[in-house]
Amino acid sequence: MSNRTFTMIKPDAFRKGHSGAILDQILKAGYQIKAMKMMKLSAEKAGEFYAVHKERPFYGELVEFMSSGPIVAAILEKDNAVEDFRKLIGATDPAKAEEGTIRKQFAASVGENAIHGSDSDANALIEGSFMFSGLEQF
Ligand code: CMP
Repeated sequence: MSNRTFTMIKPDAFRKGHSGAILDQILKAGYQIKAMKMMKLSAEKAGEFYAVHKERPFYGELVEFMSSGPIVAAILEKDNAVEDFRKLIGATDPAKAEEGTIRKQFAASVGENAIHGSDSDANALIEGSFMFSGLEQF
């Protein structure tokens, strides 16, 4: 069990002005922010981040969407960080997300689903170091 996960508030949620409300819910759930920045991914950088999905039919759409506007990326710390964060954000498809979850409240569709959360401890580490240098992590 690792105590860190990686998240991004995606361009849809940022555009609609939900970043503050989402961060408030993350903090109220007991997470501490260990790294954070607002940035706009290039298509190349988004493509690299989601390289694992390269063969999926939605890859092009995903890369275009993730590079369409600013995001807020963060590394978060709390006991059982990865698993608890997946519960907090809800299912990938907001139509299947439980009431009260971040995606249920703020996401419109499976493609534009407001927020990312790492799916394993190993990926949390890979994704966090992809977006943040050692000097940006605390
Ligand atoms: P995320 O958990 O950030 O990582 C992979 C992303 O791919 C996922 O969120 C969704 O936003 C996106 N995704 C998954 N399935 C689909 C789909 N069927 N159509 C479009 N996007 C998808």
